[in-house]
Amino acid sequence: TGEYDFVVVSNRLPVDRVIEADGTASWARSPGGLVTALEPVMRQHEGAWIGWGGQPDLEFEPFDSDGIRVVPVPLTAHDLENYYEGFSNDTLWPLYHDVINPPTYHRDWWESYIDVNQRFADATAAASAIGAVVWVQDYQLQLVPKMLRELRPDLTIGFFNHIPFPPYGIYSQLPWRTQIVEGLLGADVIGFQRVADASNFQRAVRRLKGYVTKGTQIEVPLVDDSPGVRVFGPIKRQGSFRTVVAKSFPISIDAASFEALARTPEVQDRARQIRADLGNPKTVMLGVDRLDYTKGIGHRLKAYGELLAEGRLNAEDVTLVQVANPSRERVQAYMALRDEIELTVGRINGDYGTIAHVPISYHHHGYPREEMVALYLAADVMLVTALRDGMNLVAKEYVACRFDEDGVLILSEFAGASDELKRALLINPHDIDGLKETILQAIAMPKRDRSARMRSLRRRVLENDVSRWSTEFLRVLESRAHHGSEGH
Ligand code: G6P
Repeated sequence: TGEYDFVVVSNRLPVDRVIEADGTASWARSPGGLVTALEPVMRQHEGAWIGWGGQPDLEFEPFDSDGIRVVPVPLTAHDLENYYEGFSNDTLWPLYHDVINPPTYHRDWWESYIDVNQRFADATAAASAIGAVVWVQDYQLQLVPKMLRELRPDLTIGFFNHIPFPPYGIYSQLPWRTQIVEGLLGADVIGFQRVADASNFQRAVRRLKGYVTKGTQIEVPLVDDSPGVRVFGPIKRQGSFRTVVAKSFPISIDAASFEALARTPEVQDRARQIRADLGNPKTVMLGVDRLDYTKGIGHRLKAYGELLAEGRLNAEDVTLVQVANPSRERVQAYMALRDEIELTVGRINGDYGTIAHVPISYHHHGYPREEMVALYLAADVMLVTALRDGMNLVAKEYVACRFDEDGVLILSEFAGASDELKRALLINPHDIDGLKETILQAIAMPKRDRSARMRSLRRRVLENDVSRWSTEFLRVLESRAHHGSEGH
């Protein structure tokens, strides 16, 4: 056993080892919503964070990074190809996002997924003190709860799925659907973003394992759990069982810190500077995404391009700033997406640009937090057009930054955030005509309406911030600590 009472486990550590072209190495903040959400939680708990450092074969001693103890799980080039790029991001990612892109099923990727999950479980077992609370994160590590429970039945184990959990009709494609469900059921509490995700999971448990579910609780028998017997049918109640809670805990951001940053004079100056640098167009629109096919960037560009082509938007009056953070660049689907998006951006700029002005200001790299906040402040219209998204924290960041109660959020119904942010302009990104109308509506919206909507959005985001998410999850998790095997 180890020394930590609170342990977070995720594929990526909150810091990534970055190696420059000249060979110098440094640590940088990791990409993605997970780190944004968990960083403030970790600072409060003084626990350990177990994960991969962002480079192959990277071994290092645990160290403190900004008050977070980071403990490495080294991954080889083979692991990265099979467990990370393969099974996690070319099988599970597209499958869980409603097969927007076709998932690839490879048995050797699955073997690697088992192998790496086992190493994460081993490292966690070694770091955790007796009776520790362990919180496992996201789809890359769905087998860890069961593996960890086998190694360390004394631990209280939580799992949070940051991405959607698909309807059974889609999930059931997965050749290893039963093993994944069993892996997750090793946890005491399984958290999802939306109510719909939790009920999709509950249904998968009933269909595949025949277990009894009651509201948010699942009764997992402690004996005679042999696979195959009860598929597609109810089981006879026998012996004792442990209960697992599976419910939604919508994630959020550290809203107050975004607002505080937005209020600094430096950031406000920078926002004005950005507009000036863009040539002070009447309207600045903004998209901020990892360059991922789930984000609907192509749909957004299509709507924008058509509005320009039809003359319903004048290229001189409007600029779309698109920040596309590089992501998973060795996965084929991401390479193809990049080519497609950059072709479209080039065409639109080529067709409607002038010497003085381009309709799309495109950036294939990330920016520091300060610059992002300045961009949010500079943007009249924020475009979140995801085809499927667990939550989408960018939508919440935009709202948190707009202390001036201005700006219009266009938000996809297929992003988890739309469950809460109902006063955004909600759109179906597949409906290009509807999206075009909504863009025009956003641009023309009177100040009073903009403010009324933004005020109501801000109430939601400032109340339901990330500390509420983690507090609520950990409260439920800790209440399970002494419920190991109840019920007969
Ligand atoms: C999403 C996932 C995270 C992941 C992040 C970045 O937010 O839910 O688990 O870390 O994307 O993706 P990457 O593959 O670079 O870690």
